[in-house]
Amino acid sequence: MSSQHVIVQKRPAKDEVDGVLREEREGSLTTSASSHQQKQEQQYTFSFLKPEAVKQRVVGEVVSRFERKGFTIRELRLHRMTRGEAERLYSVHKGKAFYEELVTHVTSGPVVLMILAAPSPVETVRKLIGATNPLVAEPGTIRGDLSTSITANVIHASDTSENAKKEASIFFPADVLR
Ligand code: CMP
Repeated sequence: MSSQHVIVQKRPAKDEVDGVLREEREGSLTTSASSHQQKQEQQYTFSFLKPEAVKQRVVGEVVSRFERKGFTIRELRLHRMTRGEAERLYSVHKGKAFYEELVTHVTSGPVVLMILAAPSPVETVRKLIGATNPLVAEPGTIRGDLSTSITANVIHASDTSENAKKEASIFFPADVLR
């Protein structure tokens, strides 16, 4: 009887200690979860599907790959790119042998403009889309699976977050990447 009494008396004390430990643990978990969330903060990148993606009816497949990976589609719009927009977008390539063909190609039919959100979106999108030349892009990547043409390589994506802001601003209000 007296040993039971001791146990009954000790239990609340142990529960109190457990409670303190649990609060500490939960507190530290909450702290590490929120710092993890900060590290995982959503950022944005710009991408567009070239006219062949619309013609070949692979828009859904490509968008689905981004969604399955965990991207949020922040903006998605069918758009007829003007020559002026294409020239701004590809100004770094002006003078290169492929420039004219590229500008002519991306203005040849509707494209699909996208703002994609995820942690480290620039790097992740570029991994998913694969090398510029579909002939050397890895199987399993968008270009590796869906194209054989370097000009009609299904998709463009910004190569830095600075360029993502510049490129997005050609087609979207300036605050879209904030
Ligand atoms: P994109 O990601 O849209 O960026 C520039 C585009 O130029 C590239 O994809 C290709 O479609 C196109 N291009 C055509 N020829 C070349 C080349 N030799 N090197 C790089 N890009 C090329």
